[in-house]
Amino acid sequence: MSDKTDKFRLPARYGTGEKSVWVEYIQMVAEIKPKLNLGQGFPDYHPPSYIPDTLADVTKSDNPLLNQYTRGFGHPRLVQNLAKLYSPLIGRQIDPMNEILVTAGAYGSLYSAILGHVEDGDEVIVIEPFFDCYEAMIKCAGGIPKFIPLKPNNVSANMTAADWVLDDKELESLFNDRTKMFILNTPHNPLGKVFTREELEKIANLCKKYNVLCVSDEVYEWMVFEPFKHIRIGTLPGMWERTITIGSAGKTFSVTGWKVGWAYGPAKLMKNLQVVHQNCIYTHCTPVQEAVARSIEFELSRWNTPECYMFAIAKELSAKRDVLNRILKDNGFITTPPDGGYFIIADWTKLGKKLDLSSEPDKYRDYKFTKKFAKEASIVTIPLSAFYSEEHKHFGEDYARFCFIKKDENLVLAETLLQAWQRR
Ligand SMILES: Cc1ncc(COP(=O)(O)O)c(C=O)c1O
Repeated sequence: MSDKTDKFRLPARYGTGEKSVWVEYIQMVAEIKPKLNLGQGFPDYHPPSYIPDTLADVTKSDNPLLNQYTRGFGHPRLVQNLAKLYSPLIGRQIDPMNEILVTAGAYGSLYSAILGHVEDGDEVIVIEPFFDCYEAMIKCAGGIPKFIPLKPNNVSANMTAADWVLDDKELESLFNDRTKMFILNTPHNPLGKVFTREELEKIANLCKKYNVLCVSDEVYEWMVFEPFKHIRIGTLPGMWERTITIGSAGKTFSVTGWKVGWAYGPAKLMKNLQVVHQNCIYTHCTPVQEAVARSIEFELSRWNTPECYMFAIAKELSAKRDVLNRILKDNGFITTPPDGGYFIIADWTKLGKKLDLSSEPDKYRDYKFTKKFAKEASIVTIPLSAFYSEEHKHFGEDYARFCFIKKDENLVLAETLLQAWQRR
């Protein structure tokens, strides 16, 4: 007879229930209290002051309804402003009531898009490295993830994120009649790659040829460094009708704790997302949605000026990228400078005598390295293999991911800590 507690085991759709890298590393931060956390992707400084002020105003507003439930698929003022923001960028009028869904972070939109469209046995193509929840969500929906790794085509000291590319033949070989969805992430986390028009066209042509839905995770859409440009795959010919695009207020306004995200696309695709959302969350936090709506309104009123946050943030971040990139290179890492987003991946394998990892019990070398580095150098980073499927983890094992949306003084602290560690 089976153990009675077996009845309450984790449902198989959640796999073995291992901790995600975020749960594991946040727990590590709480335990070892490092001097510098360059792990998870969030700023350690305040967003422009009008943003939190707006939220404070909203919660104390004379309108009592702003602290109550709002429309389930998105607070009216927010969906209207999202339509105003994106319609000119994608060259078509978005219907705010039927073509946009507001969710609990971009996570919520990914969940609604994947659970709302993937059925048992459907194949979903995912580019590696990938934001780790994609795989768990696909499996939870009964789908089968099919992975294709980006690989560096120019391994040299001057390599950048743009040198990490897909192999065209390998890409086409993954498409077939069972392929339901393609998940794209541009600008890319963790590589910082910004997909070019030519690369997107290849993906778009395959999606059209095999009648595949494209979910485009664009949470870092405003963090693109000159001369790169963010191209929305939904704007390519024939792609609007098969694309769901995902954004995040947390990333856009540097308030990741607000957890407001959205998905937009044609009504017939969005309907499935609405069904998942209405039965799971039903409606997301009203005051935060109102504050995001007002913040978008304000940015639209100063659109295309250097002060507009959607433009200012890219400038601010490209300077921080250069600082951290220089520090890492000067201290023995081989970096891949990004063209977008707020992460740098760095190869740590040339750090010489610092690399006795025998004290660390983990299975993968990058987990061993990042844990030892956190304890000894007091800097937290994220192991890159966390962003690969089980069978491809070896592709990530030489790298750690560093987040650079941090106060300038903390980037300087990274240098001080690295130098102290090197001297030990
Ligand atoms: C690529 C990517 N997608 C989605 C998310 C989740 O965004 P949110 O915090 O809005 O749920 C993140 C957060 O780091 C991310 O990096």
